[in-house]
Amino acid sequence: MTAPVARGEELQLRIDSLAYGGNGVARLDGFVVFVRRGLPGDIVRARVTKVQRRHAEAVVTEVVEAGPARVDYPCGHFPACGGCRFQDLSYDAQIAAKHAWVEDSLRRIAGIAEPMLEQIVGAQDVFHYRNKMEYSFTPGDDGAVVGLHRAGRWDEVLEIERCWLTTDIGNAIRNTIRDWVREERLPAYDQASGEGYLRHLVVREGINTGQALVQLVTHARERFDRERLIEVLTALPTVRSIHWSVNDTPAEVTNLPSEVLWGDDAIEEELGGLRFRVRPNAFLQTNTHMAERLYELAREAAGLTGSETVYDLYCGIGTIGLSMAADALTVWGIEISEEAVACAIENAELNGVTNAAFFAGNVGEVLRELRDRSGEPDVVVVDPPRAGLAGKALRRLGELAAPRLVYVSCNPTTLAGDAKRLCEEYGYRFVRARPVDMFPHTPHVECVALFER
Ligand SMILES: C[S@@+](CC[C@H](N)C(=O)[O-])C[C@H]1O[C@@H](n2cnc3c(N)ncnc32)[C@H](O)[C@@H]1O
Repeated sequence: MTAPVARGEELQLRIDSLAYGGNGVARLDGFVVFVRRGLPGDIVRARVTKVQRRHAEAVVTEVVEAGPARVDYPCGHFPACGGCRFQDLSYDAQIAAKHAWVEDSLRRIAGIAEPMLEQIVGAQDVFHYRNKMEYSFTPGDDGAVVGLHRAGRWDEVLEIERCWLTTDIGNAIRNTIRDWVREERLPAYDQASGEGYLRHLVVREGINTGQALVQLVTHARERFDRERLIEVLTALPTVRSIHWSVNDTPAEVTNLPSEVLWGDDAIEEELGGLRFRVRPNAFLQTNTHMAERLYELAREAAGLTGSETVYDLYCGIGTIGLSMAADALTVWGIEISEEAVACAIENAELNGVTNAAFFAGNVGEVLRELRDRSGEPDVVVVDPPRAGLAGKALRRLGELAAPRLVYVSCNPTTLAGDAKRLCEEYGYRFVRARPVDMFPHTPHVECVALFER
């Protein structure tokens, strides 16, 4: 089929649905156009930005007639800011779309004709839910600006006055840093030229404990007055830990070694009644209340009776395994980050858990060794990154053949791809899945799936 549209052309389109990732889907005589900022039911004018053989991409220039799910949004930075995608879509429509994406992935990619998909769990709080924010500095007209990337841009930062995803405390910490930077006249690092100094600001909060950690990332050398920084930040009583990291490479990363400038090296968060120590680099689910719900669902799916050997693979700081330990005989965690494993071991001690052990390693490489050491697992829980189970990890997991497999996923397409292989090649049966919305106003959806064999 020759594409019936050309780049730069402006079209009037009716948006039928939302595609996975958040673009509106429209059709021109059967030819699909993915429309950025188009919402279901909208009639829009849209400019074509890209044309391919089977589909085109476009961006809304005008909403001619708003669809029924369009709503007012509270944030003054929306839609320019890249932090939120859907503040203008009613929350019910957001979770309906996410539920449909998971269902569609399981049907289309996993090839499960009628997947048993339970109703999506909506978020407890649709705003102020994030316990971690990563801001960037950029040079502005009056000095350094601290904010979030503009939607769709990695090279532009939008100054943020009030973010609706973080808490009042999170906003106060960022604005305190903004004022300090201006007072000290510190320059922002400029990605294009490699000149300048301030690079990133990471703020983490224990939502259930009221403790906050601040990590400042700069280019080489200490060019700030650390006493003054400590003074302004500790004026906020929630700040318990201040870290500084140096990044003198071109890579835009924050996962770096850090020096503690003030306070404890870690803060604590409480999840499901357990305490967890959180350091700058360790993974922690960024929505505390929904992480508690997610772990509850994982525990339900695991169906523990107290006599099971449980593997917690991709265990991070041990949150899932430790929340299952009271109902299991033993828990064995594997995680690639040594820092996270150190936290997991510390967290077991902190909570008086004596039947859980954690090891550093790559799941694909160490599963056989773990089986030799711990014996056959009754239940395996996996919680891999977005890419899902890498080839070798999936093969080793298939060979392990645990009777019950709980798959916690942050990407329904890789979950579905892995489900297909687990069922077709390793004798598993997909039992059920439950999507969970951890990230309102963004296209992300989490899911707990149960497999048995
Ligand atoms: C989605 S997080 C889950 C962490 C934890 N289960 C939780 O809920 O907080 C994925 C974790 O897998 C780890 N990871 C990534 N690749 C890995 C691999 N090949 N082997 C072991 N762990 C890995 C990451 O460091 C990260 O901590």
